[in-house]
Amino acid sequence: MKTLSYFLAVACTLSFSTASQAASIYAGKTKAAAVCAQCHGVRSTSAEAPFPPLAGRDDEYLQSALKQYRDKTRVSDIMNNIAGSLSDRDINNIAAYYSRLKP
Ligand code: HEC
Repeated sequence: MKTLSYFLAVACTLSFSTASQAASIYAGKTKAAAVCAQCHGVRSTSAEAPFPPLAGRDDEYLQSALKQYRDKTRVSDIMNNIAGSLSDRDINNIAAYYSRLKP
């Protein structure tokens, strides 16, 4: 019985830590709706240019673009300001959200 409860405890800890590290599409959506959507649209289409559409873009691409904006290795007056306040977790969540959104 002791062994069983030990295994259960380990199993719970493992599944909990995996869940908390995975990107949250829901959190990304909330953040995107609050911060990004005013320019990029919730479901941005190319018709909404001059802002580049983000829906359906590659997850890795979005993450690296946002990190470059945050580091200012990619220069944009607008995006440097916005990305400057994003944490790694925000970036993962937002990229997960937009990359899974149908363009
Ligand atoms: C005030 C308007 C505005 C807001 C708000 C905004 N963006 Fe942008 N974003 C732009 C503009 C304009 C560009 C084009 C970059 C440039 O050349 O200045 C851009 C470019 C980008 C790019 C690069 C796209 C590409 O094709 O390489 C990404 C990624 C991006 N934004 C993500 C975001 C995310 C995520 C948010 C929310 C956290 C956000 N943006 C909020 C205006 C905005």
